[in-house]
Amino acid sequence: MVGDIPDESAEIAGICRLYRLKKRVTELSRECIQSTCNTLDSVLDNQSLIVSKPRLQRRDRTSMGKLSGKTALITGGSKGIGRGIVLAFVKEGCDLLISSRNQEDLDRMAEEAREAAEHDLKIVTHAGDIGCSDSVDAMFEKFKANFDYMDLLVNNAGAFNGGPIDQLALEDWDHVINTNLRGPFMCTKLAMQIMKPQNNGRIINVGSISATRVRPGSAPYSTSKFGIQGLTHVTALEGRDYNITCCGLHPGNIATERRQASEAVEDQEPMMTVHELAEVALLMATLPQHVEILDAVVLPHQQLYVGRG
Ligand SMILES: NC(=O)c1ccc[n+]([C@@H]2O[C@H](COP(=O)([O-])OP(=O)(O)OC[C@H]3O[C@@H](n4cnc5c(N)ncnc54)[C@H](OP(=O)(O)O)[C@@H]3O)[C@@H](O)[C@H]2O)c1
Repeated sequence: MVGDIPDESAEIAGICRLYRLKKRVTELSRECIQSTCNTLDSVLDNQSLIVSKPRLQRRDRTSMGKLSGKTALITGGSKGIGRGIVLAFVKEGCDLLISSRNQEDLDRMAEEAREAAEHDLKIVTHAGDIGCSDSVDAMFEKFKANFDYMDLLVNNAGAFNGGPIDQLALEDWDHVINTNLRGPFMCTKLAMQIMKPQNNGRIINVGSISATRVRPGSAPYSTSKFGIQGLTHVTALEGRDYNITCCGLHPGNIATERRQASEAVEDQEPMMTVHELAEVALLMATLPQHVEILDAVVLPHQQLYVGRG
């Protein structure tokens, strides 16, 4: 101090010293954490020789892709959007179980996936109806027999029957609700039973923009997609304490084989490709575990959706 005037340079020097001290403490903490992690890694590596630890038994393919060493169960993976997601995941090194009702389609898809993969992957198939509990139980048993860990579940299989409500057959209603809602519920239930003890996992539910903008004649479908959104949110909430995330992917018009073969008016609208959509599924699958995309609407820019037409 000079008289009553504060000595600013001394004060600034003091603040600088405090910043340097804080920086050094941060560096030391980081070094300390890194060294503790290294020690723990080597202890765990040694343990893996003695005890069975699913994470450590994984094949070491760390340098091969964003999903190397990870596993996924993808329903409806034989064609359409599911096919796009299967191809995107295997290109990033993911081991998979793919399901649908038709074994021939699954065999063809598994072959295509093996060709698309850059490395030798485990690709298992399961043929069965996703709305049938025995088949879903069998699918999860098959998954557990083949894989010791479940990183990802993609609830994608879908049915589209519809018509004016006053003419809609109860069988059509039941078929769509069973495929689009009962199936994902049963899969989510069994996946949560695996993921909770892992304290890790991610579920991706393929919904639809029909959960926000309905089309006429789509009562069962739109209802199921509103339902999937609810299931997604409850799963995300219940998964919170177990490091389990749940993402809702809501596509607009996607040019699948089914839609390309159709002459319906809505199938002539602007479309995006299954591969473009699969990039978003891949992004969801590779996010840091503490991050989730709760509801993603992904659609062609030209599709009539926002506004009123
Ligand atoms: N394409 C679009 O524009 C669009 C838009 C919004 C949302 N989505 C949603 O995206 C998802 C996939 O649709 P997509 O257009 O790709 O349909 P898709 O081309 O018809 O493929 C549907 C997949 O689900 C399987 N599947 C259907 N019913 C099944 C059942 N009961 N049990 C087991 N597997 C079943 C199909 O195989 P099998 O028939 O051999 O069983 C196929 O693998 C659906 O949830 C759909 O609602 C699609």
